[in-house]
Amino acid sequence: MENTILVLNGPNLNLLGEREPGVYGSETLAQLEQKLTELLNEKDVTLTFRQSNSEGVLIDTLHEFRHCQGIVLNAGAYTHYSIAIRDAIQAIQSPVVEVHMSNVHAREAFRHTSVIAPVCVGQIAGFGMASYELGLQAILNLSK
Ligand code: DQA
Repeated sequence: MENTILVLNGPNLNLLGEREPGVYGSETLAQLEQKLTELLNEKDVTLTFRQSNSEGVLIDTLHEFRHCQGIVLNAGAYTHYSIAIRDAIQAIQSPVVEVHMSNVHAREAFRHTSVIAPVCVGQIAGFGMASYELGLQAILNLSK
């Protein structure tokens, strides 16, 4: 588990590529995962991908990966109101980097609040798929 990084995606991110392409781009989640895998090819790290639309499954997954090198988390809309996900992040050892493809601060007011931000090591938002690459880089830098 120490050499494992989890990329965890929340609700509606399984529809990447067809969901609001003007906001989230036209690449699919499978393409994103492929790209990230290639990026870490040479590194001594195992990359694991999970996605769920369910809050409980996301919490169970955070628990399962509680002792890993780090977690790149796009909690989707749960970011803005899930105290249960926040508590799960606070309960685990693994550092969690919050990522968003869109710049949530430039969108609707309800997206400006992140209830998980205070318990994450940092937040990356607004760089499309590159937000995940930057999130991974952040985890790797933490472990140096
Ligand atoms: C998102 C932003 C959230 O506000 C939204 O609910 C999502 C995706 C992003 O990646 O930009 O589902 O997390």
